[in-house]
Formats: sequence, structure tokens, C-alpha cells
Amino acid sequence: MDEQKFKLGTSPSLGPLGSKTLDEPRLFEVSWEACNRVGGIYTVLKTKAATTVEEFGDRYCLIGPYSNNSQLEFEPDYHLNGASPALRRTIEEMRGQGVVVHYGRWLISGYPSILLFELGPVSGRLGEWRHNWINLTKIPTPEQDTETNDAILFGYLVAWFLGSYLAQYQRYLDEMRPGVEDEITPQVIAHFHEWQVGVGLVLCRARMFRIATLFTTHATLLGRYLCAGDVDFYNTFSHVNADFEASKRQIYHRYAIEKAAAHSAHTFTTVSKITGDEALYLLGRAPDIITPNGLNVVKFSALHEFQNLHALSKEKIHDFVRGHFYGHYDFDLDNTLYFFTAGRYEYRNKGVDIFIESLSRLNHRLQLYGSPVTVIAFFICPTPHNSFCIDALKGQAVARQLRETVAELQQDIGKRIYEAVLRGHIPDAATLISESDRVKLKRGLFATAKRDSLPPVTTHNVANDGFFSQTSGAATTPDPILTAFRRTQLLNKRSDRVKVIFHPEFLSSTSPLLPIDYEDFVRGCHLGVFPSYYEPWGYTPAECTVMGVPSITTNLAGFGCYMEETIDRPTDYGIHIVDRRFKSVEESINQMTEYMLNFCLKTRRQRVNLRNRTERLADLLDWRRMGLEYSKARFISLVREYGSLYPPERHALVEEILRSSRNPSKLSRPFSAPPSPKAGHFPPAGPMSSRQDSYEPMAGSSGHPPRIRIQGAQGDLTAGSDVPGG
Ligand code: UDP
Ligand code: G6P
Ligand code: GLC
Repeated sequence: MDEQKFKLGTSPSLGPLGSKTLDEPRLFEVSWEACNRVGGIYTVLKTKAATTVEEFGDRYCLIGPYSNNSQLEFEPDYHLNGASPALRRTIEEMRGQGVVVHYGRWLISGYPSILLFELGPVSGRLGEWRHNWINLTKIPTPEQDTETNDAILFGYLVAWFLGSYLAQYQRYLDEMRPGVEDEITPQVIAHFHEWQVGVGLVLCRARMFRIATLFTTHATLLGRYLCAGDVDFYNTFSHVNADFEASKRQIYHRYAIEKAAAHSAHTFTTVSKITGDEALYLLGRAPDIITPNGLNVVKFSALHEFQNLHALSKEKIHDFVRGHFYGHYDFDLDNTLYFFTAGRYEYRNKGVDIFIESLSRLNHRLQLYGSPVTVIAFFICPTPHNSFCIDALKGQAVARQLRETVAELQQDIGKRIYEAVLRGHIPDAATLISESDRVKLKRGLFATAKRDSLPPVTTHNVANDGFFSQTSGAATTPDPILTAFRRTQLLNKRSDRVKVIFHPEFLSSTSPLLPIDYEDFVRGCHLGVFPSYYEPWGYTPAECTVMGVPSITTNLAGFGCYMEETIDRPTDYGIHIVDRRFKSVEESINQMTEYMLNFCLKTRRQRVNLRNRTERLADLLDWRRMGLEYSKARFISLVREYGSLYPPERHALVEEILRSSRNPSKLSRPFSAPPSPKAGHFPPAGPMSSRQDSYEPMAGSSGHPPRIRIQGAQGDLTAGSDVPGG
């Protein structure tokens, strides 16, 4: 199948279409997370923007709600200079009726246009719109559910906008060709992501707009709820009574919006097959096509640059660790491995529960073997907290002070040596440190001396800490991570080979405590651990992969399944997939402990080698490849909406896409590795594309992007590095 056929933006002529002609398609992508960092959907839109702009140019525009978050990344275009005539007229028309809508560019790669609607100014119309919504869909919504109220306000604004835009667009086309009989039909695609924007989609269809619609669900609401509870989800979802379960959890109205959107869309997609199965049973519609998530992969001109970045970022983490463990800093940083997990705080769904359990077993095993390795495990999961933990701040201050004192001494000593040599003698080492220097050093020694309290397991005062709430008298549920640390006795004791640090906030380079951005932090770590139980895709291990950081994922995560399907032995590439589907919890924990233990037993050279292999998978996750599924999905919607204006071969192509997406073929085992340096060969230097990776078009067609052949993944992991970098 010629994959380029779906790239509608780049093939404006859609063939002779009788007396009618179609204009080039315009694409609107609607999401609550457009220019609004919340979770993975934000990452989808942000990283995909460059390839979508490449395909649609100025005919692409995102739509989202205006929030405090947006302001940081939004560049307003006050005079609407960048807007097309139809868009400008629509915005002006809506503004004339009291709608506050911001138009401008999202400051990300691709620099796409974006429209951000303020909900406040239209909140007065909530009653009217809720009433209309119930009449139209028979879906009642509770008055006090602010999230659903916002979804309604936003949905009505989006539908209002799209309807007006369509009219303005047709008017503009007619004005451009006065007196010409054959009319040009505008093609508009509206792609909606997730239930929060489902109302807009349903309204577009109910009002019979000539718009090709898509709905992508990145998780089903009910699936998330059921998994977070005590349900054996994957063995039962095929016979769940979804209506009943949704009502029981008081999310019926949200679930109904999601279901209505999934059924209304011309094309329905999910981010993974596993979520597709779930959608079939919980929403009653199977996806037409899977649209897996990609990333904007940046290639460095120097092959081992990512290895250098690892070393630089690791140094920043070292700095933090020195301060955090002051007084207990008796382990060797050269023998310390950084593991981490990150994401929205869904304790069970994100597998934090089994991560902590496995860490405690790893701790025991490392102690038993008398291992010199120390593992520091970070938990980056945002949860309400009351500022920084004093002890954690103090540690950083003490370490910083000592660093400054030593830097000053270094300068003084240098000066003394310089003076002495100029005067013709080499100074005696004992005289280089003066008495006052000794006093300064002693002060430093005293400040960092052994302390009675253990290094804190959290960097901030977590609001729901069981101990904390006992003292304040508040009745709260104890924080599950801190509770698990206590239960498993992971308390940063000297004897512990596994130390833990809970950072209940997303990372930022402006933090006074751990000043590092998430990306740099990931690069500096050794292993990302994401043993999710509910994870439609899971960006975090994918991001690790493109940065060359090995990770642990599961066969219940969309990403893990995708890797398992796409490559033969993911472990050889540093993608460890824990079986959470066919194994008991106990077995999964043991499997994970084994993975982590094996990782701890690797030498530095082996780790460098593994990172090289992991990084080679980056092209597999590039939007340039993954984005084709989005192109196909849009194509299906267009043909379904404007079908009568399309020639028969376009209809046949849709059938072909749908057929192949139902029967994807498994990819073969990748090529074997080039000989390792131990065997006396380094692969020739040269650009990545010519040396390591090559695309091979798939024999026949499948629902997946083209097969990728990666050389150099099957070599002996116990041998040395197979590309330079360590
Ligand atoms: N993330 C972040 N800062 C952090 C930790 C995580 O921006 O300190 C981002 C991470 O880069 C990823 C997203 O949060 O893109 C989490 O997405 P994922 O798909 O893994 O899970 P979701 O939260 O959507 O369920
Ligand atoms: C990269 C750097 C090397 C460094 C190594 C440390 O490969 O290029 O200079 O020695 O990282 O690896 P480690 O796994 O011990 O952090
Ligand atoms: C959702 C899912 C996550 C996925 C993200 C982007 O938030 O929970 O697994 O990676 O959407 O599709």
C-alpha cells in the first residue's frame, strides 16, 4: 500500500470529481490538553504538531480551553494576521457575541495555530446549554459536577465555532469565484480527543454539519475506574455491564458522553489494541483503526551525544543526592544506580504498588549478596503537599555551602602554589592549607556529620501523610506511597541498598531542591520503571526509549504491547516487559525483581552498550512513522463524509485500510548485531541512517507502520559496547 496516499494535505488534487470540486481539507484538532499540560494527551499534541503542520501547513489549527497553563506557551496574534479569511470572520463574529477567544501560535516545534476559548464569559449560558443537551441526547448531567459543566460549555463553544466557520468558509469560496456555477465544497476535519471534548463532536453530528469527524480515546473512563478498584479487569471486561458499573461509580453521565462521542464519530480510534478491546466491550464500538502515539525524535549529529548527556545529567542528580543523604552519605556514587517512575498519581493503575514491593525484595537480595551497588529509586508523582520538607532543604543547603567553601579553598590553594613556584620553590603540601582553612573545613565536617534522623523519604510534606494528619488531627487517607514505604521498611537506613525518594511534584529546573527538567532527569537516570496495570499507551517508557534509557513496562500497557508485537526480543533493546496479564501479582513482582537485579549486576560497559541498543529504537517511535495512522484515520473520515464526491478508488482504499488494520502482521526478528568490540570490530562511523537503521516496506499491508530493520540488537550483552560512548 502506498502510504503517501493518505497524506491529504500534500495531495491537494483528489482526482476529477465530475462537476463538483473539493477544496483542500482543513484540520481542527480539539483537546482539553491543547497548550495545557495535564498528562499524556498534551504530549501527543505537542510532539505531533511538527509533522501535522508539515502535512497541513496553515490549514491546521488546534482548539483548547484557555487556562493559566496556556499563557506560558501561547503567543497571541492580536490582529489575527495569521488567520485565514474564514477563520478571521468567524472569530470576529463570535467575539461580537461576547465569546472570549484567543487566537495565536502554540510555542512548540511546528509553531501551530491555536484557538483558546475562555469558559468564564459564557458560564451564564450553562443552564440553557445543559437543558439543550438533555433534550438532544437524553444524557442528564449533575449540576454540581464542574468538570462536566466545563465539558458542556467548551463543547457548545466548539460546535458554535465549527458551524460558523463552515458557513464563513463556504461564503468565502463563493465570493472567490463569482458567477461560476460549479461550487467548491469545503472539506473540514475535526479531530476530538477524549471524553471532555466529546460534547462538541456529538453536537456537530446532531446539527448535521458537513464535517469529517474523528474521536480518539486515550483511555476509557470506566476502564480507568474499574482498574483502580479491586476488579480483575482483563479477565472480566468482556462481560461487564458497563451502564450498571458506570452508574455505581457515579460517572454515568461522563461515560455516556464518551460513548455518544465514540458512536457519533465518522472514525473512532484508540491509542492501542488493548484499549481497542476495552472500548469494544465498554463503549460498544471497536476502533476503526489504532493510532499509536509517537514522539518528535531529535537525532544528534554525534552518535554518542546522548551518552554524554546521560553523564552530564547524572552529575546533576549526584549533586542532589549528596545533599539529600548528607550525614548518611557512605555509599559510592560510582556504584549507584538511579531508577525512577513518573506520571499522574494513580497508585495501582501506574503499578507503583508493585514497584515498591519489588524494590523491597531487591533491597533484600542486594543485602544478601553483599552487593556494592546502591539503588536510589525516585517517585515523581504529583500529589497535594505543603511545601518542601525542611530536612530535605537543609541537606541541599549544607551541601551547597560546603561546595562553595571547597571551591574558595581550591582557588586560594592554587594561588599559593602559583606564588610559591614564582618565587622559586615547590610548596610543602602541609603548608598549603592554612589554620583558618582548617577551621572552615571543620565547620563543614561538623555540618555534614552523621545525623540521627534518617534521610527523608519525601522531598515535600505530603498533605495526606498518615503521620502528618495524625498530628494535625485531620482525618485523611494516608498517602499510599508513604504507607507502602513504611510497610516494606524502605526508610533509607544505612544498611539499605535500595533508597527511596518521593517527589510529589513534576520536576522543574527552577526548583530550589532538585533543579532539573524532566527530560534531563530521565537522561541522567539508569532505568525507568513503569509497571502499569492500566495504561492505554504510556508515554513515559517511550520517552525513555528515545533518550536511550532502558525501561520496565508491562504487557498491559499499550506501549509494552506495541513493542512486544513490533520487535522480537524487546529485552535485548532494554525494554523489559513484565507479564501482568497471565501471571499472578506475586509472579509479576518476582519477574520485576529479577529484571532489576539483573540490571544491578551489569557492568558500566554493559549499561552503556544497552543504552546504545535502546536508543536505536527511537526511529520506531517517531511521528514521521506513527503519524501515518493519523493520516489514514483522517482519510477514512473524509471519504465517509464527502463520499459522493470521491472516486471509487478512494472508497476501495478505505476498505483496504480497514481490512489491514483488522489483521496486522507480526514483524520478524531484527537483524543480528555487528560484532562487539570484544571480538575486535567497531561498526564503521557514519550517519545513523546509513549505518544502523533502514526502513523496509512491509510485504503486503498491515495496520501497522512499515517494518523497521534494526541492526545491532542481538549481540552479546555481556560483551563490550558496540558503538562508542563508554
Ligand atoms: N511528565 C512531565 N513531567 C514530569 C513527569 C512526567 O511532563 O516531571 C510527563 C511525561 O513526559 C509524559 C506524561 O507526563 O509525557 C505522562 O504521560 P503518560 O502517557 O505516561 O501517562 P498519563 O499521565 O497520560 O496517564
Ligand atoms: C556515558 C558516558 C561515559 C560514562 C557512562 C556512565 O556513556 O559517555 O563517559 O562513563 O555514561 O554510565 P553509567 O551507566 O555508569 O551511568
Ligand atoms: C492517557 C493514558 C496514557 C496515554 C496518554 C496519551 O492519559 O492514560 O496511557 O499514554 O493518554 O495517549
